[in-house]
Amino acid sequence: MKILYVASEAAPFVKTGGLADVAGSLPKALKEKKQDIRVIMPLYWSISDELKSTMKKETEFSMDLGWRNQYVGVFSTIYNGVTHYFVDNEYYFKRDRIYGEYDDGERFIYFSKAVAIFLKKINFKADIVHSNDWHSGLVPLYIKDFAKGDPFYQDMKTVFTIHNLKYQGIFDSFILQDIGGLSDEYIVEDGLKYYDKINLMKAGIAYSDALTTVSKTYAEEIKYEYFGEGLEGIIRKNQHKLTGIVNGIDYDLYNPTRDNYISANYDFQTIENKSKNKRELQNLYDLPKKDVPVLAMVSRLVAMKGLDLVVHILDELLQEDIQFVVLGTGEKKYEDIFNYFQWKYSDKLRSRIYFNGKESHLIYAGADIFVMPSMAEPCGISQLISLRYGTLPVVRETGGLKDTVIPYNKYTGEGTGFSFENFNAHELLNTIKTALQLYEDKGVWHRIIEQAMKSKNDWGKSSQEYMKIYKRLKI
Ligand code: GLC
Repeated sequence: MKILYVASEAAPFVKTGGLADVAGSLPKALKEKKQDIRVIMPLYWSISDELKSTMKKETEFSMDLGWRNQYVGVFSTIYNGVTHYFVDNEYYFKRDRIYGEYDDGERFIYFSKAVAIFLKKINFKADIVHSNDWHSGLVPLYIKDFAKGDPFYQDMKTVFTIHNLKYQGIFDSFILQDIGGLSDEYIVEDGLKYYDKINLMKAGIAYSDALTTVSKTYAEEIKYEYFGEGLEGIIRKNQHKLTGIVNGIDYDLYNPTRDNYISANYDFQTIENKSKNKRELQNLYDLPKKDVPVLAMVSRLVAMKGLDLVVHILDELLQEDIQFVVLGTGEKKYEDIFNYFQWKYSDKLRSRIYFNGKESHLIYAGADIFVMPSMAEPCGISQLISLRYGTLPVVRETGGLKDTVIPYNKYTGEGTGFSFENFNAHELLNTIKTALQLYEDKGVWHRIIEQAMKSKNDWGKSSQEYMKIYKRLKI
């Protein structure tokens, strides 16, 4: 099948969140299934020169954008066997940031329209155009709109995936016509109208032929107000075409037996080596080299990730004989709190307020317990990496966390981690304490590690589920 996979970010080119991990690994898995899948994303300024130097120019054309006429250059490179296209326009993408610019609406309308036109320019008659999150939410609409007058687009089917409803792309209504060149007929309740504005996430939900999100539980949760973020109505209306497919991770990229970023490679047979990584982590972060349980968080420091729960119990938790490392950036109030606690508990807590991919690997390998008490979590990638590295996750039972971490059951011995149900700080604390007690019982602890490391969270099964949807649409 011919598939164009559209995303605003993809690893290793540009990454601000989990979408980049998915866009960097699912296409590779589908390519291995012998599909002609190609990826398209903007040519951001921040892509490294090393990666840019591998790109060659594919085509260029000019495109109407409302009353303007804009240049579209497209570059390409092959990465992991997958052709990646990059839409080039310095006016839109030579910026300091990926998102958060004053004209994001215009930037991503430009990108979405360019993608739709590009298909025809290179005569790539895709069976499926698969776009993701609000940045490419207009792609299904453009394809439907173009199909009205152009047979080239008539058999193309669109899939849209919601990665996180928290970010929706809400803009002034006039830009749909003024910039996007699309008629007002789409600004209706069943379309992309959102109060007196337009909502690009809603466009993806309304106009795609199939809709997916990144776990089964999240697919249920978003039909209701607490998780629906104001879109529960349109989601319920479109639930007949909605499927939850849990994300996988790239098992080549996250592989404790071969990872170059860690001090000692290991698998379950050589699990003693894991402690060498713990020493190295303690060394790097200047923590006492003691055999105490090391807890870790690698996360954006925002409310959605459950930071309020962590902050609430931090004093109490740090009374225990543990160490705790935090890596990530986010809201200033959380950064400040972690810095304060690092001062107060200087031999126990390390807050590393930045992001560093290499260091994150050492944390996944060196820590014992991974803390992820999210308020909402469409899928979550970090708990999957933790499982693979035998670092037992403590999670709240929501979205993908609920679907991927099996809570330890002391009667049957089953489980790959620990979980709690309510968004309550002491439920989190008690769950961590249960884990800390079991840490002392090496027999049980190793058994859970073994189960965690053996749980399968690669793309094998989930890429198959995407294929099923693609095939169903083609008939
Ligand atoms: C978003 C979600 C996260 C998910 C990721 C990839 O970042 O917040 O839960 O894992 O997208 O789908």
